Amino acid sequence: YHVDMDASDTEKGPFPFYMLKEINEQPAVLRRLVQDYLDESGKPVIEADLLAALDQADRLYILAAGTSYNAGLAAKSVFENLAHIPVEVGLASEFGYNTPLLSKKPFFLFLSQSGETADSRQVLVKVNQWGYPSLTMTNAQGSTLSREATYTMLLNAGPEIAVASTKAYTAQIALQTILAKALGEKRGVQAAIDFDARTQLGLVANGMQTIIDEKDFINQLAQNYLATTRNAFYIGRGYDYAVSLEAALKLKEISYVQAEGFAGAELKHGTISLIEDGTPVLAIITDKRVASHTRGNVQEVRARGAHVLTIAMEDVAEKDDNIILDNIDPLISPLLSVVPTQLLAYYTSLNRGYDVDKPRNLAKAVTVE
Ligand code: G6P
Repeated sequence: YHVDMDASDTEKGPFPFYMLKEINEQPAVLRRLVQDYLDESGKPVIEADLLAALDQADRLYILAAGTSYNAGLAAKSVFENLAHIPVEVGLASEFGYNTPLLSKKPFFLFLSQSGETADSRQVLVKVNQWGYPSLTMTNAQGSTLSREATYTMLLNAGPEIAVASTKAYTAQIALQTILAKALGEKRGVQAAIDFDARTQLGLVANGMQTIIDEKDFINQLAQNYLATTRNAFYIGRGYDYAVSLEAALKLKEISYVQAEGFAGAELKHGTISLIEDGTPVLAIITDKRVASHTRGNVQEVRARGAHVLTIAMEDVAEKDDNIILDNIDPLISPLLSVVPTQLLAYYTSLNRGYDVDKPRNLAKAVTVE
């Protein structure tokens, strides 16, 4: 099969590690998705058969593993808000063997950077036996999951070589957003008609660039907060909770800091006992509706000695916040809020002297169940 890339795609160039190169590529990846999947007037360009099949579905099942699973979690609200379709996000490894009761007209979306993850494939094999329609969103044209699903949408993110996934995560969320808008428009959902994907994704790309340009400052934060710690907690609510899970995964994967993402309010239901003097707690705050509540959770952990770092969107930011994100529609804030957490993970791994691109025991594509 044909892969559209040139030599520079697989070379590190001035970057010490692929991961940093791939973090840097994210604004360009988003702009490319806008170019490939939105027309001049900002209308999504999506295969008509795919949209028709989705439109007939009464529930969307998003299945994936690892970072791709987290991209599904981040997009659930986008589909529900813009396309009015109920969404269930599942770990492929669990779903195939503990299949929940399915709705009458399910549609299956497989998210997979490599298109080769065996855990996801075993579900797709069953979906095909059941005779249900499916879509694979992948970065690998001609991959197994792409060939075996009814439909394919390509991320066009260029090769992702670092084991820890970065640009595939944001590309998956962006492409799901475009698909959600297309489905919502087809269904006449006002929120989808009003959602200006072209402008919003452009704002995200600019906001990403702002953060990337501040990478030396983020390196300092990584040194101050995460250099020697054995554990760390990300907290957030709603969209920010979805990102917290990915942020924690990224930190765990490459820096071996034991990190967990928590829904802000769940701390007081037991896990706050994990907070000790100096424990890093990283709070993500982008959504007005829940910002004050997350601030409350920040106070609770601070009172117990936590070393708190805050990542906040301009609209809800306070003067002591450490990282400020440009304003974008909160519905797609994971696209932007994840970027500083990718850089924090990168620098923590780098400063600890690890091979950022090849963390121990992990593989880029896992082709066994
Ligand atoms: C492996 C990788 C992860 C990745 C997951 C799913 O475990 O180490 O970074 O998120 O597989 O991969 P996929 O190619 O299906 O997105």
